[in-house]
Amino acid sequence: MRRLNVALAERSYPILIGDGLLSRADEILAHLRTPRVALVSNTTVAPLYLEVLAGGLGKVGVGITPIILPDGEAHKTWESLNLIYDALLAARCDRSTTVVALGGGVIGDLAGFAAATYQRGVPFIQIPTTLLSQVDSSVGGKTGINHPRGKNMVGAFWQPKLVLADTDTLRTLPDRELSAGMAEVIKYGLIRDLPFLEWLEANMEGLMARDGELLAHAIERSCANKAEVVAADEFETAKDGGRALLNLGHTFGHAIETGMGYGAWLHGEAVAAGTLMAAELSRRLGWLAHADVERIRALLLRTGLPVRAPDLGAARYLELMSHDKKVIAGSLRLILLKALGAAVTSADVPQEKIVAAIAACCGE
Ligand code: NAD
Ligand code: GLY
Repeated sequence: MRRLNVALAERSYPILIGDGLLSRADEILAHLRTPRVALVSNTTVAPLYLEVLAGGLGKVGVGITPIILPDGEAHKTWESLNLIYDALLAARCDRSTTVVALGGGVIGDLAGFAAATYQRGVPFIQIPTTLLSQVDSSVGGKTGINHPRGKNMVGAFWQPKLVLADTDTLRTLPDRELSAGMAEVIKYGLIRDLPFLEWLEANMEGLMARDGELLAHAIERSCANKAEVVAADEFETAKDGGRALLNLGHTFGHAIETGMGYGAWLHGEAVAAGTLMAAELSRRLGWLAHADVERIRALLLRTGLPVRAPDLGAARYLELMSHDKKVIAGSLRLILLKALGAAVTSADVPQEKIVAAIAACCGE
């Protein structure tokens, strides 16, 4: 088992990565205030993994309230959040009950927001079961739901007490979801870890073939990068750089997700196409060479991710991007690349350059 720490003073917590961790009820029990959990999952993940998790917890005397939601990004809504509140209240869960998220990023974000708000906040544990959630969404405490006008527009920062990533669960993940997670893995190399990017270039076929050791290393390195960034700028308030850099490709990507309708493009797919838009814009600003952009494209292609964005029209992209959470006083801040492995926040990009980069990356 690999063990990392997210260093946030009194809110610090461990990330455990390894195979067979779902049955390590002892690790979970050690982080419960009382032996009582509300276990939030969905109709896809629960039949696969709820029994082994609940069985282990039951054996060590933990009472469990299962809450099973419909599956999909389209259900990351107020309605699903209310289903969680209803179930917590019906089961008389109190402030010492720990909410446990068992699933991908959608379940993690929803359950985390419920934990942040139920009775003004209850303890929370993340058990991520997709590559994307194991390398990104389960770490760092961003929780929330979508709004028809924009992705993740309503939410809260609420750190978990523990992240437990069982790499065995990735065996049942559909190929398309594995690819989507790889977009966020590649992100860490691009924004701050060139040696990791080079390692990914050397090992991508093995990773996509689900080699356990390679995947565990990629998850550990991704989480180590994320933990460092979050520890330095938990609430994304740094003037330049900081946690916002984790959003490389996301301003364009969120526009794709919202513009196409939630669930049509997977989050990681939208991030992949958005990353190439950010790279193309960085090239147009004279920061990246053409060969750098091609290097990113080649790596994304090897994961099966989309490298062209849907043609929503530049005006629609700009409108959707104007809702981005990185907008300050009406000014759009983009995450761009000064070089491979070195991202920056940039608030003064000429609009015509953004429009040209969008046009160059859209369509078949
Ligand atoms: P997801 O949660 O929709 O999971 C993808 C699909 O895989 C779902 O159908 C799910 O039921 C299924 N699934 C999950 N685990 C499985 C398994 N082990 N075997 C088989 N099927 C499994 O999507 P995701 O990619 O995990 O997460 C995307 C979400 O995460 C988006 O809403 C995005 O906004 C959010 N996100 C949040 C953060 C954050 O910091 N909070 C960061 C990145 C992304
Ligand atoms: N996924 C971006 C963040 O956690 O800040």
